Amino acid sequence: MAHGYRIVIEDCGREYPCAASQSALRGMEALGGRGIPVGCRQGGCGVCKVQVLSGTYVKRVMSRAHVSEQEEREGRVLACCIYPTSDLRLKVIGGMLRCVERLAADAAGHADAGARDTAGIASGA
Ligand code: FES
Repeated sequence: MAHGYRIVIEDCGREYPCAASQSALRGMEALGGRGIPVGCRQGGCGVCKVQVLSGTYVKRVMSRAHVSEQEEREGRVLACCIYPTSDLRLKVIGGMLRCVERLAADAAGHADAGARDTAGIASGA
């Protein structure tokens, strides 16, 4: 069985499993459904830029047009080019940010619905 890590997207509080053999973007795409735009997946378009807040990873070569050497040293990397070697916490800083914010709004809507359901059950008892 492939070893999986847990990746948390700080912006929306969502998390997803990611195998060591998968890029951080792969799992994010599965999580987002309609929300996450599919970019080049090869480090060329920059849409998937994230700040890694904690955790470790290995990385593929990234376009200097999107990630400078200093940014790379500071953990600002392309999600499609990193592979987790531990659990990760990410903050989205690329073009995906608006989509991730929509995910957060969706999650909040579901939480509200859950709260209403619970209230309904409680009042009906
Ligand atoms: S999807 Fe294009 S750089 Fe990651």
